[in-house]
This record gives sequence, structure tokens and C-alpha cells, in this order.
Amino acid sequence: MSEEIRIGVFVCDCGTNIAGVVDVLEVTEYARGLENVVMADEGKWSCSVDYLTKMKELIQQHNINRVVIASCTPRTHEPLFKRTIKEAGINPYLLEFVSIREQVSWVHMKEPEIATLKAKDLIKMGVAKAALLEEGQEIRLPVKTDCLIIGGGMAGMNAALSVADQGFNAFLVEKEPQLGGILNNVCFISHDNQKTPAARVVQTKADQVHAHPNITVYTHTGIEAVEGYIGNYKVKLKSNGDGSTNDLDISTMIVATGMKELEPEGQFEYGNDPRVITQLQLDDMLRKKQLEDIKNAVMISCVNSKNETRGCCNIGCHTSVKNAVALKHLRKDANIYILYRDMSLIKEEGTAQQSAKRLGVKFLRFPDDRYPEVRNENGNLMVKVYDLLVGREFELPSDLLVLTTAFKGDETVEQIRGHLKVSANPDRFFQESHVKLGPLEFATDGISLAGCAKAPMTFKESCEEGIGSAMKASIPMNRGYIETEGIVAHIDLTDCTQCGLCSKRCPYNAITVDKEENPEVLQALCKGCGLCAADCPAECISIVHYSDDQVFAQVEAALEENPEKKIVAFVCHWCALGGVDMAGVSRLQYPSNARLIRVMCSARVSLKMMQRPFELGAAGVLVAGCEFPTCHYIEGNYAAEKRLKRAKRRMAKAGYDPEKLWNIWCSAADGPKFATTMRTMVKELKLD
Ligand code: FES
Repeated sequence: MSEEIRIGVFVCDCGTNIAGVVDVLEVTEYARGLENVVMADEGKWSCSVDYLTKMKELIQQHNINRVVIASCTPRTHEPLFKRTIKEAGINPYLLEFVSIREQVSWVHMKEPEIATLKAKDLIKMGVAKAALLEEGQEIRLPVKTDCLIIGGGMAGMNAALSVADQGFNAFLVEKEPQLGGILNNVCFISHDNQKTPAARVVQTKADQVHAHPNITVYTHTGIEAVEGYIGNYKVKLKSNGDGSTNDLDISTMIVATGMKELEPEGQFEYGNDPRVITQLQLDDMLRKKQLEDIKNAVMISCVNSKNETRGCCNIGCHTSVKNAVALKHLRKDANIYILYRDMSLIKEEGTAQQSAKRLGVKFLRFPDDRYPEVRNENGNLMVKVYDLLVGREFELPSDLLVLTTAFKGDETVEQIRGHLKVSANPDRFFQESHVKLGPLEFATDGISLAGCAKAPMTFKESCEEGIGSAMKASIPMNRGYIETEGIVAHIDLTDCTQCGLCSKRCPYNAITVDKEENPEVLQALCKGCGLCAADCPAECISIVHYSDDQVFAQVEAALEENPEKKIVAFVCHWCALGGVDMAGVSRLQYPSNARLIRVMCSARVSLKMMQRPFELGAAGVLVAGCEFPTCHYIEGNYAAEKRLKRAKRRMAKAGYDPEKLWNIWCSAADGPKFATTMRTMVKELKLD
């Protein structure tokens, strides 16, 4: 026999923050009369220690098995109340949080009666959902202490040393016969260190790596296969020499595959005239001191960078100044010109340009849309450049023309990206999950990213990134496990048509397909965004705490009375709810028509969810998510945007006005944007 549902509702005064506007006594009395509610209580400060103790006593006294908290915002207080009900013996996933401060009292301050009505509606919606809540559980996966580092350049070596110094096992794989990466072709690492060749820096670091007892080095080796997930990767290595293989059990990985120069095909006579070379080729000649005959050298910056295809290459200015200084030291009498668009040097490199000028290197600035021209005149290489600062053209003879080119990721990137199922941009640079929220991380747990595998960077930056990525990898290895929230997808195979869409669409590779073609959720990898559930044509995927039934129960409760006056707003938990909360904190007043339904990501809102409110007579529907390109689940908002377009077409066919389906993409600071959207919607839907 199924358990009797006994819901307890706790309504907070929040001092006068809520009670100063909303009639909390009336709301509490109303809650007592709702189906399945066995008790409702008003608390002056619900989050105070005293009240939390009382809450636990009431839960036990009334034998409550579901809880609705009506108070501030789940973004700040949900964990506290989850802990409290857990201490009272209830599974924390059986809690529903209703925001009657940020969504009611703070934004409808001048309309206490309307605010009280809205608070009642929101609690009714919360109770309707709570009745359908199911237990959930955090998922814990063991993580051991073996880390694979792919790429033995400076970032990879530093990562390996940092991992190993912490007592973990580092396995460093390098495709070339020796460690060092791109630095093996470089003369010096900076303009002011002309005494220590890069080769010596590499050798010192490589010696440390080889000598470390916790590091195993595999040179001349590639990655043949990768299977598994954080804490449980099976990696097959294959020697690029004799083809022998090695199988490793790995818990975490660091990708440090480095970069290559993007060769300028046919530009500036490159490839036609041997005197035209790239900076890396110059580095090699400087290393070998092969520049005796050079009297006039010209460098052209920003070749194939800072254009419509790609941005600044990050290191071109640094490299050209460094190499100009090195060349000047080698050939004191040579004329050296750097032709540049902008000099982008960070503070400590600013002195580099001054040193170069002191040595006699000349800097000429050309306009963005007027690149220098190169021609062969009777066997002499001539460079014509318009100098913006002097305001005239110069003709420069050149024994050596050096092109400061853009870069692209290593050629192994395509293969590695396939093995790890991570993303890279068209220039083969890997993409980190989020520049602010997940730097040096991939979206896939347990894999971090370092150095020039991500973007061109200097020696110093690569070393720092190597150490940073090692720290990322060390966190779960040090803890011994990872724990993920129990908001995950469940697949009911009964109705599954094995279309495979869910496993293709999952941004975290958390859904695999087994030998019988059945999809399976790797719960440790699932983040619960709900994209798969919303897109599943057979509707056989459910998300814990955000099932279809639970969301529809909220929609129906919201629209039980006066649906023609109401807007159902699906709001993602992250930026969109942040924007809603910000409107509240800022006391921005807006019309009270919206009934908000929280989902983890806008990607969770299915076509049916968008349409159901209209079937029940709603005046409008709003889908609110994070602004582009940010989404806390990589690309959920992009999926939602596409789905919105489909929903409008579908609505039109079904006889509903697609203009009543709205959307908004906002940041957590976008309180004004949310409030304005509410006002505009109410006006355009003629609800005022
Ligand atoms: Fe906000 Fe995905 S988390 S739209």
C-alpha cells in the first residue's frame, strides 16, 4: 500500500520582509486547507536556529513526509532547509521551496492583497508538486590517485610534477620521442633571458620529470582508446615506434596537447621564397646560429590573426620582440624592423619593446586595413609599408622576412577529442567548460585542460596553467570520491524506442547505449539539466525533482483560477532565477501576473510544457534562461531557443497564438530586464 502523503507547510514572515506586505496568517490558514496538507505553521524567522528546532519537532509530531517552505529564495536557503528536514528524518529531496519574498513581497510592495493572493497561488503550486515528490540520493563515486597527462610540453611536465609532488601517480604521455613540445624549437623563452637557451630550461624540467618516483613517462606514444568516467577510466596507449600497447587504469586526466604554427599558405611570398619564414622557423635558426648573412630583417605581425576568422594570437607581439632582440644580439649590425598593427604586451613585457628599441630595432605601425606588400625586385625582396605614425610609405629591403602567424591546436586534437568526447574550436583548440565558472575544466568531470591546448600562451602562462590543471585533478583524488546531486535523469525502458537521441544530445556524455541498443544513464556524470527528458520523443525520461508530472501539477495549480490573467514563467535555477531574485532585492515593482516554475535549466522545458498552460487558458508563457553564451549546462539555452521556435510553429498549428509564448535570456544581475519583461508582457498581452 502506498504511503499516505502528509505535507507540512512552513510560511516565513522574514521579520517584516514578507509579513510587512503579505498577510502571512491568512496564507498559513489557506495552506492548512490544501489537499494533503496536515499542518501549516507561521515562523517569524524560519531560518533561525530556534525555528529550525521547532520545525524538526513539528515534522516528527505530525508525522510529516513532505515539506513545503514558503520564504526567501532557494538559491540561498534551500541547502539549510534540506539539511534540517534530513535531520528530522525526511529525505531532503522531499522538500519544495516556494519564494514568497523575492517573487512576492519585495516586488508587489504596494499591493498587499494581490501579493497575498499570489503567495497563496505559489504555495498551492508547491503543495501540488510536493505531493508527487520522490526520494533522491546523492551519488558518490570512488576516485583513486592515478592521473594521465596527455602532452609532455611545459604545461604537461609542470602538471605531472605537481600531481606527483602531491603523492599521486602521474602517467605522462608524449607523442614525440622527447619531452618539451614546441619549446624544443624555440631559442630563448623571453627577451631578457638570452643566456639560458630554452633547450636548457626544457632539459632541466625533463630531468626532474624522469627522476620523479611518482611519474611514469611514455614518449613516442599515442592514445589508442579511452573508456569510462572519472575514477574509472581505462586507457590504452600505443607506442608510435614498435606499436606495443599499454593498458592503464586512470582516475583523472589532464589534456596538454600544445599547439602548432598556422603556416601562411602563399601569403607574403611564403612558400615561394626561402627568405620568407615564420617566427618558429626563425627561432630554430637562432638556436642554430644560422644567420650570418642577414643585414636587413623585417617582421610582419598579425598574419592570419585579428581578422574575421580569429582574434589576437596572444603571443605574436611577445615572440616578435623576443626574436628581434635575439637576432640583434647575434647580428649587431643588422637592420631589424617590426611592422605591427597593435603592440599587445603585458606589463612585464612592456620593457621588452624598450630594450629592443635601445638595441636599434625599429617599430613601424601599419593600418588594420593596409597590410605591408612584399615583392621580388630583381632578386631582392622588398617590403612596402605605410607607417601610421610618420604618415608615409617606406620601402624596406629584406634578406629575411619573418611572418608572425596565428596558431592552431596540435594535429592529435581531433583524435583525442573523439576519445574524450570533449569540444574543440575550428582551430583545434580545446574549449574549457566556462571561463569563469569552470576555468581549466572540461564539461566532463575528471578531465582538465592546460596550456596551449586551450589557446596560444607564453612560457610562464603555460607553466602556471599546468600547475592549475594539476590542482583541479587533485581535488577529487585527494578527497577519494566525487559526489553529485541526486537531480539526475532516469530512463523508463518500457516505452523507449531506442532512437538514441538522448545519448546524442546529452552534453555530458552521461547516457550510453548498451549492446541491446538500450540507453543507460551514468548517474555520476548526469547533471540533471533535463535536455534529454525534454527532447525524448517517447517521453520516457524523467528528472528527479523535475518530472513532467510534477511540473504539470504546478501548471495546473497555478491556472486553477483566473487563468486568463496569468502568465506561467519557467525559470532556470541559475541566471534567470538570479535575475528574478535581483529584481526582488532591488525592490523593482512589476505586475503580479506571473507564476514562476523553477527548472534547473531552460533546456528542461519541453514542447508540451510550453503548450500545456495555453490548453488551460493561460494568458501567456515565458521561458527564462541564462544569457548567451552562458548556460550552467553548456548549451541548454541554445537547445531551449531552438525548441521555442518549434513550439511556436506547433502552437500556431494547434490554434494558439504563438506571440503569447515569450522568452528572455538574462544574467543573474538582470533584475531590471526581468521586471521590464514582465511589464511589457502584461501590456502586450493586454492584462493591465
Ligand atoms: Fe540557465 Fe541553462 S542553466 S539556461
